[in-house]
Amino acid sequence: MLFSKEVGIDLGTANCLIYVKGEGIVLDEPSVVSIDAETKKCLAVGTDAKEMLGRTPGRVLAIRPLKDGVIADFEVTEMMLQYFIRKLNLKGMFSRPTILICCPSNITSVERNAIRDAAYRAGAKKVFIEEEPKVAAIGAGLDIAKPSGSMVLDIGGGTTDVAILSLGEIVTSTSLKIAGDKIDRDIIKYVKDSYKLLIGDRTAEEIKVHIGTAYVDASQSETMKISGRDLVTGLPHTITISSEETELAMRESLQDIVRACRTVLEQTPPELSADIITRGIVLTGGGALLRGLDQLLMNELGIPVFVAENALRCVAEGTGIMLENLHLIQ
Ligand SMILES: Nc1ncnc2c1ncn2[C@@H]1O[C@H](COP(=O)(O)OP(=O)(O)OP(=O)(O)O)[C@@H](O)[C@H]1O
Ligand SMILES: [Mg+2]
Repeated sequence: MLFSKEVGIDLGTANCLIYVKGEGIVLDEPSVVSIDAETKKCLAVGTDAKEMLGRTPGRVLAIRPLKDGVIADFEVTEMMLQYFIRKLNLKGMFSRPTILICCPSNITSVERNAIRDAAYRAGAKKVFIEEEPKVAAIGAGLDIAKPSGSMVLDIGGGTTDVAILSLGEIVTSTSLKIAGDKIDRDIIKYVKDSYKLLIGDRTAEEIKVHIGTAYVDASQSETMKISGRDLVTGLPHTITISSEETELAMRESLQDIVRACRTVLEQTPPELSADIITRGIVLTGGGALLRGLDQLLMNELGIPVFVAENALRCVAEGTGIMLENLHLIQ
């Protein structure tokens, strides 16, 4: 008898993770592809390609094919998906895999079908597509099948999804394009306006991850030296930036996220609201790791907030749990 492998893919705008049933997460790489601009040949995918972002000579393009929660470059997305699936080396004694893909929430049905086709072309036997907030909630360990409300806030690279779930389905939700990437851009803008210093995307992300804070707590203030190009002299230059400054830089975007949570809560049926007061909000996605974000949300919304233990891996873990139950939907 031939066994068919079951594979879950979190096709995120920042990171792509692959879960193989029985093995766990086997691949976790940035969603970046570098190609030769002239020949259109793929030069590197994932971690190697991310190293090239912002550092490529003219002929080489390092592309993030999924940007701001949409598929900015379909051909390259397909190239990346196929590369990762092939890397798993699923062939051999196994027949073609069943693939469950979780993709950005506001893609169009055309893009959704295109992703499905790409997975079939990469060798899938059957393809299922799922919504990100639902899978994130499952991966965070929430039992969404119960008739009680659960709230999940997933902050990824391109999109932030807020959803309230009950009986296994999304009851109310919203999605906004303000997430990790936008916060990086906020930091770039702040440094440019305040210090006349131009920094790259990767430096901005490092600032956010290392000293970024959503809620100023004097006891945790830190500083970091950063370098870029001085806009006045045109020469390389180094400055020091503090946690407080990152809060200032990110404030507007974080307030947009708070507002989105409020809107979803306002549209929630009262019985479910009552559940959320006791069960709280669960934060998933890389943005959930931003220091002080839980405190900020708790203060603004007055409900408990929990950061999922495996925030960056919730969606991939969630696909794993869903694969266990695939026989129920097949
Ligand atoms: N410790 C951290 N603090 C703040 N932000 C972080 C941290 N670690 C990762 N991030 C950010 O999380 C984002 C990536 O998260 P994630 O992998 O969940 O996104 P994604 O699933 O690829 O995107 P999307 O769900 O929007 O398609 C990036 O913007 C990254 O900078
Ligand atoms: Mg995601």
